[in-house]
Amino acid sequence: MGMQSDIKLIDENGLRIDGRKPDELRPIKIEVGVLNRADGSAYIEWGGNKILAAVYGPREAFPKHTQNPSRAIVNARYNMAAFSVDERKRPGPDRRAIEISKVISEALEASIFVEQFPRTSIDVYIEVLQADAGTRIAGLTAASVALADAGIPMKDLVVGCAAGKIDGKIVLDLNKEEDNYGEADLPLAIIPRTQEIVLMQMDGNMTREEVRQAIEMAKKAALFISNLQKEALRAKYEKGEIQKAEENLNAEVNKGE
Ligand code: CDP
Repeated sequence: MGMQSDIKLIDENGLRIDGRKPDELRPIKIEVGVLNRADGSAYIEWGGNKILAAVYGPREAFPKHTQNPSRAIVNARYNMAAFSVDERKRPGPDRRAIEISKVISEALEASIFVEQFPRTSIDVYIEVLQADAGTRIAGLTAASVALADAGIPMKDLVVGCAAGKIDGKIVLDLNKEEDNYGEADLPLAIIPRTQEIVLMQMDGNMTREEVRQAIEMAKKAALFISNLQKEALRAKYEKGEIQKAEENLNAEVNKGE
């Protein structure tokens, strides 16, 4: 953010370097249940981001002193693979990963009915395999799908998007170059059903009016992405139903032979 350069981020036709219009999202693809050992999982491709999310729990919180007798604790761990960025990232948690893990944990916790699972922990692992800006929101979006896949009751799937400012204009869903050379980035996440904002951060500078515009733009996109999350869950469970029906049919046929 805010790196000095002569790079033009918006051309004379009003298009961005990857050809997008100001309010256009990068392509997003979500897949559910991609891991067999976890209780729930999801994989998201969002522009150049590739991220896996896995969920364990609710299970007895350990060590015991971390247990809360009235509710579950939500532990999200955001991790960037060494090979996820241009310059090899030193493995292990840095200050940035600790911060992102904290804000994601809080955003997910706001939607989960934590009081239904006292003394337990719900562990969420977010592994960034390839990063291209916007990973905290893409990771959070995948994580809430993985929570649903694990059968954890929630008010709604948490979902988000970022908006920001490049070349003096408010735009949706910044990519890496825009994040590096733009003026501001504002990641936002909501619970669509209640319209609560559960994550909002800002890097760089915008006026009050620009912030208002960025929030509106990010919220609108989040509602669109919320449908992609639900479609991905439906696709997995419908596929499962078809598979079950086919197995039953085969069993019947075999019995009849
Ligand atoms: O990913 P997100 O936008 O949520 O967080 P950020 O801290 O604004 O990082 C923006 C982007 O910078 C990441 O998505 C990565 O592409 C890149 N980055 C990097 O190349 N090396 C790092 N150690 C951290 C971030």
